[in-house]
Amino acid sequence: MKDILDRLETRRQEARLGGGKARIEAQHKRGKLTARERIELLLDKGSFEELDMFVEHRSNDFGMEKTKVPGDGVVTGWGTVNGRAVYLFSKDFTVFGGSLSETHAQKIMKVQDMAMRARAPIIGLFDAGGARIQEGVAALGGYGEVFKRNVIASGVIPQISVIMGPCAGGDVYSPAMTDFIFMVRDTSYMFVTGPDVVKTVTNEVVTAEELGGASIHTTKSGVADGAFENDVECILQMRRLIDFLPANNESGVPDWPTQDPHDRIDESLDTLIPDNPNKPYDIKELIAKVVDEGDFFEIAPTHAKNIVTGFGRIAGRTVGFVANQPMVLAGVLDSDASRKAARFVRFCDAFNIPIVTFVDVPGFLPGTAQEYNGLIKHGAKLLFAYSQATVPLVTVITRKAFGGAYDVMASKHVGGDLNYAWPTAQIAVMGAKGAVEIIFRADIGDKDKIAARTKEYEDRFLSPFVAAERGYIDDVIMPHSTRRRLARALAMLKNKHVEMPARKHDNLPV
Ligand code: HXC
Repeated sequence: MKDILDRLETRRQEARLGGGKARIEAQHKRGKLTARERIELLLDKGSFEELDMFVEHRSNDFGMEKTKVPGDGVVTGWGTVNGRAVYLFSKDFTVFGGSLSETHAQKIMKVQDMAMRARAPIIGLFDAGGARIQEGVAALGGYGEVFKRNVIASGVIPQISVIMGPCAGGDVYSPAMTDFIFMVRDTSYMFVTGPDVVKTVTNEVVTAEELGGASIHTTKSGVADGAFENDVECILQMRRLIDFLPANNESGVPDWPTQDPHDRIDESLDTLIPDNPNKPYDIKELIAKVVDEGDFFEIAPTHAKNIVTGFGRIAGRTVGFVANQPMVLAGVLDSDASRKAARFVRFCDAFNIPIVTFVDVPGFLPGTAQEYNGLIKHGAKLLFAYSQATVPLVTVITRKAFGGAYDVMASKHVGGDLNYAWPTAQIAVMGAKGAVEIIFRADIGDKDKIAARTKEYEDRFLSPFVAAERGYIDDVIMPHSTRRRLARALAMLKNKHVEMPARKHDNLPV
């Protein structure tokens, strides 16, 4: 009997070694943890239950029958994060570069199916070179099955992808279909094909970092939602993110205890808006001051910085925040900002996370660069996302709400449940200068007349009261009481229920 037990332990030890000691050392030398070390950090201590540790590939081509490694390059299973169940798979770069074989795919599909049945989030830790080249179509078929499951799970359970090494092919396409992608700086890359293939096909010489490093995907492309300094920081931040997320689309948001009074007054907010309407201020200061204990998890902090998106809590319950950022491009809406915010709004709506919108927006960004890039379609995505949302929508206009951007940013007209304005709000078709130059074009040469017209326009429109007189703004509130008003609004809207007409699905302007 002892022999049998020992044999199990020996086989387990073998599997735990993955691609062997030398490759583990190489992994560490690159500043990366192994697949199993990452899981240990991500899950509550001792909570990991591994599945399919002894699965091997079945390929006999290219001498593969001689190189079978138990587990076949991916560690799968389930465990808990702060007591809440999650499923996961962690790619092992030490085994065939983490590449996906037919059986490796079946392991991932098994946890995808289990996560769906249990309605629990699934997290993929990626460090892998895509489909296993030696297996050909068997590997491609495996990826197809994983992709299909990604899509079926979308909007049902949260799916998080963490890129922790060089990733290509299916190991970037599967993440692209999940809700969030995070990267590790300097050790992780995402590209459809790597620098060598790029050189062969296009003659372009490019480094891995230039092609698909965190510096590119968290700024230029917006493919990734954030990047962290190293594996440890990245995984600890993933634990923090999971605490904000609902288990599934029907569970409702988690409810964490908080010491922060929901009616906490913050006098400093009364002076947040500068006297000069063209002077910027940091909208993140407002977010930090209204959320519980100042705890805000920002999504895509370095891409389209003119809009801020992320999760906080009010009265212990998760809220999605969308806020124009006056510090960057005066908070204007451009294509990237519209796409970024639209995707975030849709995530919140899919998972029943209420949305608080802070508005200070001078309009959409004019110009050929934006128009050629499809601003009309991209801006429409955000308008569509808000108009479609059935979760509680609470909006606070802090300063400018000009033009179409006023309508788009969760206005009453597109479904805002409670629309508040600070006394500093200016709600109009455009700013005074632009407005006067158009409607009083004949007076442009007359400085005094223009000044008088500008003053008249400012007095009439650049306040919250014209909108409040029409009921487009439900109340003009004191900045210092914003947290209290939000907390009360969200409590009142907790059981909001809106039915959209039956249809197969909408036709979002993608
Ligand atoms: C089999 C692979 C592999 C793969 C890497 N390896 N990728 N084995 N299939 N796809 C193996 C290498 O042979 C090597 O084995 C070990 O993993 C480490 O790889 P290196 O190249 O030494 O590492 P590095 O220099 O860090 O480069 C990593 C890499 C590169 C950027 C991922 O290996 C690479 O470009 N791989 C191919 C990527 C690719 O084109 N994949 C197919 C995509 S198609 P040894 O034994 O030498 O250490 C796809 C289809 C999905 O995924 C459909 C999408 C829609």
